[in-house]
Parts: sequence; structure tokens; C-alpha cells
Amino acid sequence: MAAGTRRVKSVEDSIRDTDEPEHRLKKNLSGLDLTVFGVGVIIGTGIFVLTGEVAKTTAGPAVAISFVIAGVVCGLAAVCYAEFASTVPVAGSAYTFSYATLGELVAWIIGWDLVLELALGAATVSVGWSGYLNQLLGDIGIPLPTSIAGETATVNIPAIVIALVMTGVLVLGIKLSSRVTGVIVAIKVAIVLLIIVLGFFYTKAANYTPFVPPAEPAAAGESGWHAPLIQTLFGWSQGSFGWGGVIAGASIVFFAFIGFDIVATAAEETRDPRKDLPRGIIGSLVICTLLYVAVSLVVVGMQPYGELSTEAPLAEAFSSVGLSFVSSLISVGALAGLTSVVMILMLGQSRVLFAMSRDHLLPPGMATVHPRYGTPYKITIGTGIAVALLAGFLPLGTLAELVNIGTLFAFVLVSIAVIVLRRTRPDLHRAFRVPLVPVLPIVSALACLYLMLNLPADTWLRFAIWMALGFVVYFAYGRRHSRLAGAEGEAAARRLAADREARR
Ligand code: ALA
Repeated sequence: MAAGTRRVKSVEDSIRDTDEPEHRLKKNLSGLDLTVFGVGVIIGTGIFVLTGEVAKTTAGPAVAISFVIAGVVCGLAAVCYAEFASTVPVAGSAYTFSYATLGELVAWIIGWDLVLELALGAATVSVGWSGYLNQLLGDIGIPLPTSIAGETATVNIPAIVIALVMTGVLVLGIKLSSRVTGVIVAIKVAIVLLIIVLGFFYTKAANYTPFVPPAEPAAAGESGWHAPLIQTLFGWSQGSFGWGGVIAGASIVFFAFIGFDIVATAAEETRDPRKDLPRGIIGSLVICTLLYVAVSLVVVGMQPYGELSTEAPLAEAFSSVGLSFVSSLISVGALAGLTSVVMILMLGQSRVLFAMSRDHLLPPGMATVHPRYGTPYKITIGTGIAVALLAGFLPLGTLAELVNIGTLFAFVLVSIAVIVLRRTRPDLHRAFRVPLVPVLPIVSALACLYLMLNLPADTWLRFAIWMALGFVVYFAYGRRHSRLAGAEGEAAARRLAADREARR
């Protein structure tokens, strides 16, 4: 059993697999496409919604510092991703990287874990999209009933529709997808810049004091299972505000950065992955961090933090200074912005599942590429239906925290894997190298772990249950069907036959 779980898929094998005709994806994307892709998936619910919530309840005006902390943690992980993506330019991101270093079981765990980031993330953002749509429809006087739209819906129809429409776009092909993304990203960035530039003139110095509000004891809802794990484990009561609040805020606004790692899942569709991937990953992260810090500084300057809206804080801040038309524009921008987030999260999910089924850890028939569109259509459609069902029927508020914990866990493993691959395969060509190995990857892993500890205990429990389920599936299916199991079996049979031959 142990032999199976430690099976490592060589980097050369991973790269060779990408050339099999039935599994070959079209190589269409440039470095700029990847950066646009990155920005397209990074800017979304995080900045449009969480800024207000975190400023109001957790960090005060210092939410800007929470963004800086989360951005730095992601930056550390991003350079680790960049080294891997430049060394193993194969679809599947963290999954593929760990298969090449930490072995099959860890790779499976990561692949399983990424479902939390990608499919659940897409579903969460679809629900947010539905909320914004209904707000906009409300603005023009035709709101949908709250039972079929918005975050409290019983059956969330717009969330289902957006997930299925984006699935269609993805099946039709990556080039079309990146064109659609380009337009959407342009609208989204324009709106964000508008918020920064126009909002700047409405900021008041008084709203910035105190910048880090004094710490307050935890509210009733923040204790017990919903308290950060670090508090449950070590009894460090963080409560709200103060520097503890700034850090807890960072573990929540972390959601706003999710996506830069998805750039790495498009490795096989990139023209010059060794150069373009590090550019795309780090470039999109830097752009978004700068925009987030600027937006959050402007928004907390426009309104006292205690009065910020927790649902549509950016739009509301402009209404509060009498600029309602800007507020509607922001809703349109948010709507467009969330569309591309849903699409790219689903793209990432389908590519990870594609890599897993190509390795036979999932049924291999799923990985067939469409003869005309060159996309893994079966997996894409399957992913789209799953996301639509999750978004349509589940209350995803709390589950969003699961997205953060799942992503942070993947970052921890990728950081460790950089050190492992440096030791096991020092010979590989690395177009991009993480500086200060092993210090930087270790700091990266510890920083991600620390943010994880700041997430609630009930989130950890759900995370543990999901991962346990993953173990069951692996031992029931993947371990026996794995392509490497086949290769190992054949090699053993050959050795046996050669032995017999020699004894004769
Ligand atoms: N970073 C993405 C968002 O904020 C997931 O919506």
C-alpha cells in the first residue's frame, strides 16, 4: 500500500503526457493573456463585498493592512507557484506539482482539496453574482422574488443560469474564453479605477482615525465553534479590531486574492510557459494587490467604517455621498467582474480534473478532448452541472470559508514541494527560481498555516470531513486504477519474466 501512495510521476512523464494526440490542448495563450486571465479571476466578490464586511466587523479602516498582509502571503506562495509552473508546465497546477514531488497520495489529496477552491469557489461567486443582479434589477424597478434570486433564495435561478452559460463558453474553446475575459476585465478594472479616482475626492481625514480601532472582546456568535481555531486551541481570544482583528481580517480578505494560482492551471495552453507563467502569476497578483489597497483606503475614507454596507459596500459608499448613478455603474461592473471569476474558476477546476483523469486517478474517459474545439468538454460540462447545483441549492455563506482553507492548504503543500523538488531533481531547468530557498518557501508555508489557524473551528471540521472522504475515494478507486500502478505492475511483470528466463 505504501509503495502505491509514494509513487512519484516524473516531470518528464508529465510533460510527455501533454503530447498524446487525444489529450493535447491547444497552445494559444500569451503572457498578456495570462495576466488578463489572472486579473479576471482575482478581482471579484472579495473586493466588491468583503471589504465592507471586514472593515465594519473585524479590522476597521485597517482593512487596507489586512489586504496588504493577505497580499504578501499570496505573493510568497505565488513565487513558489511560479517556479513550479516554469519547471512543470502541465495542466493541473498544484496537483501536477505534487505528483512530481510528494507522490501520488499527496497529489490526490491536493486535487481533491482544489475542488474546495475551484468548484465551491465558483458556486460561491455565482451566488454573489445573483445577489448583484437582483440589486441592479431592483435599481431599475424589476427585482426578482428573493425566493429565486439573491443570497437567501431557496432555488437560486440566476446563479444556476450563470454557471451553465459560462460552461457553454468554456466548452466552445479557450481562445473565445480569453476574448470574453478580456472585455470583462477591461470593464472591471475601469470601474475599480473609477472608484479609486472619484472616491478619493470624497474621502475625509476624520474617517481614518482611529486607523486600527482598539480591540473589543469577541461577540457571542464568534465564540465556540465559530471562533478562530487559534482561539479554540490556545485560548488566545482575538475578538474584533486591534491587531488581532487585522490578522483575522487578512484570513477573510484572502478570498479576494484567490485565482492567481489558477493561471498555472492553463500551463499547457500557453505558448512559452516557462517565461509567460511566472509573468502572468506574479503580474496579476501585483496589479490586484495595488488596486485592493487603494480601493479599501478610499472606501473607508468615504464613510465611517461602522456605517459601511456589508453587502454592497463600494456601491453604498458612493450613494452615501450622493453619487447614486456611480453606485449603479459599480453594480454593473461587479456583475461583469463576477462573471469572469465564475468562468475562470470553472476553467481551473476542469483542468485539474482533466489532469487527474489523464493519470487514471479518475475514470480516464472523462479526459477526452473535443475533436473540434480542443477542450476537455466532458469534464467541463460535468463541472458546470456540479457548480450549478451547488450554487442553486446550497446556502453558501459559511461554506465560502471552506474555499479559503482549501486554497491555503494547497499553498502550504506547493511551498513545501518547491524545497522537495530542488533536492530530488536539482538538474531540472527552472526558468524562474524562488530566491532564498529553503527560507522563503518555509516562511510561505508557515504564513499560510497561520492564516488557516485564524479560520473558524467549524470550517476546520468541514475541511477534515471533505478530506476524509477524499481518502476513501482514493483507496476505493484511484490507487488501483492509477496509470502509474499500471506502469509499476508492468515493470514488475517484466522483472519476474526476466528472472524466470535467467533461472532456466
Ligand atoms: N478572488 C476571487 C473573488 O474575490 C475568488 O471573487
